Amino acid sequence: MALTAPPPDLPVPSRPLRRWVLGVTGGIAAYKAAELIRLMVKAGLEVQVVMTAAATRFIAPLTFQALSGRPVATDLWEASEGAGMDHIDLVRQADAVLIAPASADFLARIAQGMADDLLTTLVAARSVPLFLAPAMNQAMWQNPANQRNIALLKEDGAYFLGPGEGVQACGEVGLGRFWEPTMILDALAPVLGWENAPDLRGKKVLLTAGPTVEAIDPVRTLTNISSGKMGYALAAAAVACGAEVVLISGPTALPLPEGCRMISVRSANQMRDAVLDEIHDTDLFFAVAAVADYTPANPSGHKIKKTGEALTLKLVPTPDILATVAALPRPPFCVGFAAESQNLEEYAKQKRLAKKIPLIVGNLAQRALGRDDNEIILFDDQGSHPLPPASKSELAHHILKHAFALMRQHTLSS
Ligand code: C5P
Repeated sequence: MALTAPPPDLPVPSRPLRRWVLGVTGGIAAYKAAELIRLMVKAGLEVQVVMTAAATRFIAPLTFQALSGRPVATDLWEASEGAGMDHIDLVRQADAVLIAPASADFLARIAQGMADDLLTTLVAARSVPLFLAPAMNQAMWQNPANQRNIALLKEDGAYFLGPGEGVQACGEVGLGRFWEPTMILDALAPVLGWENAPDLRGKKVLLTAGPTVEAIDPVRTLTNISSGKMGYALAAAAVACGAEVVLISGPTALPLPEGCRMISVRSANQMRDAVLDEIHDTDLFFAVAAVADYTPANPSGHKIKKTGEALTLKLVPTPDILATVAALPRPPFCVGFAAESQNLEEYAKQKRLAKKIPLIVGNLAQRALGRDDNEIILFDDQGSHPLPPASKSELAHHILKHAFALMRQHTLSS
């Protein structure tokens, strides 16, 4: 997905927005709302799903009911509770309304203040913030009438999350793509109470993420099973907090988080070179990548032929990127990661001291690799700080908040 505008400047509410009405409107991206609900529920939010009639043609309400653990509301006239005032009751109980996906037709109707079905009525009756994650064909997005509606909605105080740019369900390419659910959640982080949104405006955050790939010959490689999810979640969290974010990534299957600059690399040496190119004006460096510890000493220029004999590969150590950065004369605030399969506390503490870094994030490899959630312990000069299990997005915000607080202490005391 190509880069578009960074997430909007969200209001920071006096208390976290925990109770959400999630409106789903008719469009092919409606199926992605299922993943969004899953992530929202996992993050501890209450989600009341409301669907338009068109949305129910794309995906069955039962799917959302199962994921949200609540009956899905669809009908203005089915007044089962609340003295026939369902629309008012639903918004009375909510801290915010998110429409995802928001179709062109739905945007047009709420821009005009129409209230001809449950979801439009609810939007009209609300006094809580309104977030809109649009999804539509690129020509529909560009259409002047649609652009007028968007301008009206922005004027009325709605917050837009997306759209992104890229290949669309119809095969066309352009603006109008629904943001990935993880991006929507990351962009909402400042209002979810995951952190007191550290203000990273004017700060540059550099991250490494994913695996590295070391060539044995032109067709064979040495690599590892890092998915890149933790590093990408941290990059998105840093963008949401206003930082300039550069993500140096080995190959992953993940979409580029909105609003950050990505530099793609393959080998540990390439990753080191890219990091050293970017490090000079960096304030915070997160070494999240699972960098290969060894690389073939003499990669073959041609495919190594099978002989039936045992093959011995000579491996040489790769540069330790994090230790190199931490040893610079004026290093940025460095955060390392330690993925261990045993003795986590002991190894993580040793690693932090050996690499001379102020903060290391420890996790068990078997608990973390490839998963959407994790359980981590932060180690710093004060000792260890275990965090409860949570999604990687949520953990990213906690890590960022902890790192930023320590960085400020270091700056004040130096
Ligand atoms: O030494 P070990 O690989 O266990 O340390 C893990 C930490 O060091 C991670 O933060 C990782 O990104 C970083 N690292 C690095 N360059 C290496 C090896 C690890 O930056 N060659």
